Amino acid sequence: MRRFLVAGNWKMNTVRQSAVSLAAELSAVASTEEAGVEVLVCPPYPYLLPVGEALGGSAVRLGGQDVYFESPGAFTGEVAVEMLRDVGCQYVLIGHSERRAILGETDVVINRKVRAAIAGGLTVVLCVGEQLSERQGGQTEAVLDRQMEGAFAGISDSEALGIVIAYEPVWAIGTGVTASPEQAESAHEHLRKWLSRRYNPDFSEKTRILYGGSVKPDNALSLLGQPNVDGALVGGASLKSSTFVPIIEAARKLSG
Ligand code: 13P
Repeated sequence: MRRFLVAGNWKMNTVRQSAVSLAAELSAVASTEEAGVEVLVCPPYPYLLPVGEALGGSAVRLGGQDVYFESPGAFTGEVAVEMLRDVGCQYVLIGHSERRAILGETDVVINRKVRAAIAGGLTVVLCVGEQLSERQGGQTEAVLDRQMEGAFAGISDSEALGIVIAYEPVWAIGTGVTASPEQAESAHEHLRKWLSRRYNPDFSEKTRILYGGSVKPDNALSLLGQPNVDGALVGGASLKSSTFVPIIEAARKLSG
């Protein structure tokens, strides 16, 4: 049985005060380790430290929204794996569609980031997903295959152990249009088969695959209830505890 991961990607949102209040509220909701559900928040870089402090000794994990692949040095504006570790991050998001589309991240860059993060001891949440035109053109599975092949190039099964995949159809991000539970399940099943072929069935069975794209309290239960959906990567609804906590509760209900 895979443990659910409910992750909040705060993107370029919050100010220090709202970030700290939200973290404090979540730390009260997920104060102790649970066998069935893990909670993660990924605040903007400047708030990692105060958010980590507000999370205190709770079970809520801290993650970065991105990372650079080089060791510390002359890379203005970038943040190294060591730095994320140093401020308390256990996780890092890599390959988010906004970084692919707006900031021009390629599969090659994403692969370098994944490799650096693994080597440095961070757990990677690798984001993949198709654009609307690609879905309409029947290209969804081919796009996912290309992104997976790119991201996992040269990575062995022992290195990749623990990596989390987030399936985020781009047309469902921030649009209020959610993939139907059937559409999500079908993509997740495809990704799990890919992992099984590329690595092995045991690795594939252990790997958590999250769904992301307009996850809200009212659709969380049906999405998380799919056999191959092991959690959620939540954007907008992760910015308030009143909408994020019910998503955690949905995972708790399904795991209990
Ligand atoms: P929304 O939940 O706002 O659609 O964002 C999803 C997302 O991109 C999470 O990484």
